[in-house]
Amino acid sequence: MAVRPQRSAGLTAASTSGGDAVELQLLLEGVFRQYGFDFRQYAPASLKRRVARRIQAEGVTTITGLLERVLHDPAAMERLLLDLSINVTAMFRDPTFYVAFRNRVVPLLRTYPFTRIWIAGCSTGEEVYSLAILLTEEELYDRTRIYATDINEAVLDRARAGVFPLDRMREYTDNYIRAGGTRSFSEYYLAKYEGALFDRRLTENVVWAQHNLVQDRAFQEFTAILCRNVMIYFDRPLQNRVHELFHESLERFGILCLGHKETIRFTAFEHSYQELDPQEKMYRRIR
Ligand SMILES: C[S@@+](CC[C@H](N)C(=O)[O-])C[C@H]1O[C@@H](n2cnc3c(N)ncnc32)[C@H](O)[C@@H]1O
Repeated sequence: MAVRPQRSAGLTAASTSGGDAVELQLLLEGVFRQYGFDFRQYAPASLKRRVARRIQAEGVTTITGLLERVLHDPAAMERLLLDLSINVTAMFRDPTFYVAFRNRVVPLLRTYPFTRIWIAGCSTGEEVYSLAILLTEEELYDRTRIYATDINEAVLDRARAGVFPLDRMREYTDNYIRAGGTRSFSEYYLAKYEGALFDRRLTENVVWAQHNLVQDRAFQEFTAILCRNVMIYFDRPLQNRVHELFHESLERFGILCLGHKETIRFTAFEHSYQELDPQEKMYRRIR
């Protein structure tokens, strides 16, 4: 009797050479068991695209081929991690968010003698430098500590260095102006060769740390948490778990900021927050 697959989904011939959903699950399981990174509840559509790209870049033909390489070669795992974690970011990304932060969040932060802000999933740090600039201009930086975390140590190293591509400074200057910046953006960096080296004072009150939102627990109580453009890659149950972590980590009346395409609505914590700015996905914990 011929054995036929009962179900076929996942990476098909269109994206790789004959992989399928079972292979993808095995890859994620292998990565988790060998390296401890848990991508098993990330949204499948984006995972499939990333894995297909890595298969091609590694010169293998199937997901199983990729799994074998990753299990025996930690450098291949690092490359896969960079693909899976999706690190796209920008300074003053979505400038209207920063305008709303100045108008709605800053007045609340002023009422505290000292604030702790967690930027979860900070990638290469552009968001952290942007917030540090905003808080400096609002004269709040000296009484703030920013905890900037990401699952990926390699991007945190780049964030710590604070050198960003010079060819993006025009875009960032434009974002900064649209975000309500009050100075000249070039005051904040020194142009050197190909890079713009950002003022070290902007990171004086920043603690950089590796933290995995899927597996690690709360580590502080925060006045505000920014987690933008991270949970969009998680499935619904995982989003709920991360919201539980944020709820646990926020002080009462603390502020939660999500990305433009994310929302607290339809999660288990919808009723624990009041909308501060629905458009900009800013919420205040009320219970
Ligand atoms: C698209 S970037 C967003 C960067 C920044 N927040 C922004 O909005 O520009 C997503 C970041 O989330 C991080 N990330 C993905 N899964 C994570 C996890 N389980 N724990 C912590 N960070 C994670 C990735 O490494 C990546 O740097």
